[in-house]
Amino acid sequence: MTLDFWQDNLELQVQLEKVEEIIFDHVKSRENTLTQAGIQLASAGGKRLRPALVLLASTFGPKSSGNIRNIAAAVEILHMATLIHDDIIDESRYRRGQPAVHERFGKDVAVYTGDYLFTRSILLLADCKSVDHLAKLARALKIVCESEVCQHSERYNVDLSIRQYLRKIKGKTAALFAISASLGAVESGAGQSVVARLRRFGSYLGMAFQIRDDILDFTGQESELGKPTSSDMRKGNFTLPVIYALQSAAHTGLRSILKKPYISPEDWDAAYELVKTSNGIEKSQIVFNKYCQKARRELDLLPHSLAVDTLGNVLSKLQLNPFDKCSTKPASDPLFPGPSDFRHCRQQKCRRVPGIH
Ligand code: IPE
Ligand code: IPE
Ligand code: MG
Ligand code: MG
Repeated sequence: MTLDFWQDNLELQVQLEKVEEIIFDHVKSRENTLTQAGIQLASAGGKRLRPALVLLASTFGPKSSGNIRNIAAAVEILHMATLIHDDIIDESRYRRGQPAVHERFGKDVAVYTGDYLFTRSILLLADCKSVDHLAKLARALKIVCESEVCQHSERYNVDLSIRQYLRKIKGKTAALFAISASLGAVESGAGQSVVARLRRFGSYLGMAFQIRDDILDFTGQESELGKPTSSDMRKGNFTLPVIYALQSAAHTGLRSILKKPYISPEDWDAAYELVKTSNGIEKSQIVFNKYCQKARRELDLLPHSLAVDTLGNVLSKLQLNPFDKCSTKPASDPLFPGPSDFRHCRQQKCRRVPGIH
């Protein structure tokens, strides 16, 4: 895989190449199916944001630790496990521009592969002999799990509040970003205030990242993102643009559609149109910008370095995407270099079957 996303920091790219080797080594199993499934996802691409956060945060302390690449690989393997399980639950047919693991290997193998990767991640971190690191990773995983279940229980809740939404994404996405930054900083022996600042940076970045992802589900192009779009709302996952649209007086029609016991394909099309023509996307962008600003403020208070520049560039790349509403032309996503082979991926068809969910 290419690590072009990190081309502004050659040293980081070199480190990430080494992390790649550890990831590939540690997704292997004596069970060939598990190896194939893990390797497929690892080689399909991905930005390696979380391991990069570990490595960059590790430049803030005085120690150069031999464990740091293992820690970086462990968080990426954990992330991969959550993606595999998330795609089963979201019924997403492709990931990183390739068929999702459950599409190629079936749901059972995908569940096992996710579990296997969780254990490989923990084992890799156990090699670092830090109970504190292990506890941190386990806590992050606990929060991700609880937040995913919370999202599941709140499906089709038209009264979901912004506060509930923010709490949920803090758990399901920002927690792993925060822990990645914190693990890197602690391992390098950085002082407590720097560790706390990097952890907050990671959390704000993660919040912005998930809000952006939720906006792109409405405005993005599948061919650019390498995963299905227009699916969150159909799955009953009412994200920030929907919550704002539901609150807008001009869009009372949306609430009545989303409360219907059976929502037809035409209803869904109308609902998507209503969200896109409401101010939900603009309002979500404002919240996204707020989290980017919060993250930038944390960076500004860190001693200036190449790592700070690289982290700042991540924020800029996040913002480069114009988020243009209902764009007919694919908007190129600076975070996704483009899937290697997208031709075989079909658009996901989503249904809501009343009484089943
Ligand atoms: C996808 O994360 C899941 C979300 C939090 C939206 P990434 O966009 O970091 O996925 P990869 O690793 O680059 O494929
Ligand atoms: C992020 O949520 C998933 C995890 C944190 C595991 P999404 O469901 O929005 O992620 P995508 O859109 O499938 O990548
Ligand atoms: Mg998903
Ligand atoms: Mg998403």
